[in-house]
Amino acid sequence: MNRNSNSIDRRTAIKTGAAAVAVVAAAGTLARPYIARAQGQTDGPIKVPPLPYKDDALAPVISPNTMGFHYGKHHIGYATALNTALAGPAKDYAALSLEDIVKTSRANPNRAGVFNAAAQVWNHTFYWNSMKPGGGGEPPTGKLKDEIGKAFGDFAKFKEALARATIGQFASGWGWLAWDEKDKKLVIQATSNAETPLGRGFKPILTIDVWEHAYYLDYQNRRADYVNAVIDKLVNWEFAEKNLG
Ligand code: FE2
Repeated sequence: MNRNSNSIDRRTAIKTGAAAVAVVAAAGTLARPYIARAQGQTDGPIKVPPLPYKDDALAPVISPNTMGFHYGKHHIGYATALNTALAGPAKDYAALSLEDIVKTSRANPNRAGVFNAAAQVWNHTFYWNSMKPGGGGEPPTGKLKDEIGKAFGDFAKFKEALARATIGQFASGWGWLAWDEKDKKLVIQATSNAETPLGRGFKPILTIDVWEHAYYLDYQNRRADYVNAVIDKLVNWEFAEKNLG
């Protein structure tokens, strides 16, 4: 074999290798045609805080693709819709805080659209903070653990009740641990669509989003697997303890 044919072989091998890399890359593209990254911001008074962790930090329980769509499209989308309303038909709310927009619009049936957008902005920020990489398990010894014991008997019973209520929420909504300000005890709630314990006599402690956009890319219809994985591996008990005060 002469020097020339050697170099041709080498070139052929390089080309073949490059083609193989291209095929593998194309196959990857076909398998995951679009990976959304969690980014985006809004014009207007309502801003969405950045995620408290990187968008791949909760994997494999929640994939970066789910995070990208959920934060970048849905959460930002609610804030954009709210800002549009505040610049036009709901201009009289423009100087209110997000919490006050939620409370005020809930009391006005003509402002249902504003309530839905505002509550979803608030709920989602609360949801991101209700989770952390390496979370889950039992809460550390302290006031929250004591109150869980008082309200539910023990952690196993509490966990079963939170999972059952959250998984059982019909259609889109949220599962919550909240503090009942009247009866002074922890309660579990499931709320539909954008509804939230905020401003209804309950202090939200932690939440799990069970809109399909929260889990369908990763779990399809297996909502129970998603909810149990969030409780077992992601719940941010420090955030919950802080909310209890
Ligand atoms: Fe959501």
